[in-house]
Amino acid sequence: MNIQSAKFLMSNSRVEACPAPTLPEYAFIGRSNVGKSSLINMLTNHKGLAKTSSLPGKTQLINHFIINDTWYLVDLPGYGYARVSKDSREKWGRMINFYLRRRENLMCVFVLIDSRHSAQAVDLEFIEQLGTQGIPFVLAFTKADKQSGSRTHQNVTDYMQKLAESWDELPRHFITSAEEKTGREEILEFIGEVNRQ
Ligand code: GTP
Ligand code: MG
Repeated sequence: MNIQSAKFLMSNSRVEACPAPTLPEYAFIGRSNVGKSSLINMLTNHKGLAKTSSLPGKTQLINHFIINDTWYLVDLPGYGYARVSKDSREKWGRMINFYLRRRENLMCVFVLIDSRHSAQAVDLEFIEQLGTQGIPFVLAFTKADKQSGSRTHQNVTDYMQKLAESWDELPRHFITSAEEKTGREEILEFIGEVNRQ
């Protein structure tokens, strides 16, 4: 799929205030600093469309971007960031859970996982929640440029094996690098396919 246009639409803390759920939507979620906003910029070829930062906790609201005037990308705050107050973490948690359960046009959630690390409890718990709630999701392993390809493949294989301990059917996964644009074609093709369904 070609990206003809990518525009920031709005930021919200409440699902009710999000754009009317009339277009297909894809949300990006994962631990703080995993690279959600960077991946959105890479996919849309727009540096600076979604705000990024080397400090975790940058994205704090539900951010809608409209792509080709026909579908939405959504940048969400990260989970599992210890340095924000317990209050803020609980507020984000509620906001994200509410969004995931209520957003009727949500076609698929991209759960981002840092390809450098082994499986973390917080990610496995989040994936477990999505699975039990029947929310469609795929995985995107990020920052693949930070290590050798064989190391990335080893980490991804370990991760998928870990998931196989609890799940009969494994989610689809993508290996990505926002720096090197790895995975861009695959993800856009996947979204195009789902949009056509
Ligand atoms: P929060 O909004 O705070 O939850 O973070 P986020 O998940 O949106 O991460 P963000 O895109 O802001 O990126 C965090 C840091 O990781 C930034 O310094 C990015 O430049 C860096 N980064 C993101 N993706 C990649 C990547 O693929 N490769 C490399 N080398 N760095 C990356
Ligand atoms: Mg962000």
